[in-house]
Amino acid sequence: MGEHINNPVPVVAIVVAAGSGSRLGADVPKALVPVAGVPLLTRAVAQLAAGGVGEVIVVAPVEGREPFVDALADAPVPVLWADGGAERQHSVAHGIALLPDLPEADADAQVVLVHDAARAFVPPEVVGRVIEAVRAGADAVVPVVPVSDSIRELVDDGSTVVDRASLRAVQTPQGFRRGVLEEAHWMVAESGVAVTDDAAAVEFSGRQVTLVEGSRDAFKVTEPLDLLLAEALVAQGRA
Ligand code: C5P
Repeated sequence: MGEHINNPVPVVAIVVAAGSGSRLGADVPKALVPVAGVPLLTRAVAQLAAGGVGEVIVVAPVEGREPFVDALADAPVPVLWADGGAERQHSVAHGIALLPDLPEADADAQVVLVHDAARAFVPPEVVGRVIEAVRAGADAVVPVVPVSDSIRELVDDGSTVVDRASLRAVQTPQGFRRGVLEEAHWMVAESGVAVTDDAAAVEFSGRQVTLVEGSRDAFKVTEPLDLLLAEALVAQGRA
């Protein structure tokens, strides 16, 4: 018992960084693209650690691992490495496979986050909110922000407006009780469905998803314009 108090089970974050990021047009993988000289991956891990994450599992491309390892040489938390898969959900599954061996009760209750390396500027408060909501009993937690654009849905013969007041954009880190995440990914793999994020996998497994407030700063660096915004955030001392 005493040992348990001194060594609480750490919050683990699986950081997916195995995408090519071709929309960014950079000559290095997206996670290694520097903003004010510091790679997105380095920044993402620092933000997670500041928000309460104690260990990260980074899912990186199989080839060209060295610069990824260099980017986290001075990481504030221990880092494990997993191989990227063909789709994001396979990359996450490879990360799940590396979660530490723990006694069953500890493993089931462990808080596991899944985060896109490209959301390198997520504020620590958002990370903390997600962790707290899982600790408070949620199976799966998703940070969201309101949608500012008007949205139209394409239908067979044209398009139709969607009420944006009822829409939310989904961010990461998403948080889970480990047992829930493992079960959801197992079910997704068994059935062969495609999911774009882990909350969708959990919903597919029949469980509820809880929403918490995200942040505009947790935007996903996707296109060249996003890099300008990222540089501006750093220049203003917001990251
Ligand atoms: O492509 P998209 O921007 O949605 O990818 C979101 C995140 O998933 C990125 O951080 C990317 O590196 C990661 N990813 C991955 N393995 C893949 C595809 C995407 O780790 N096969």
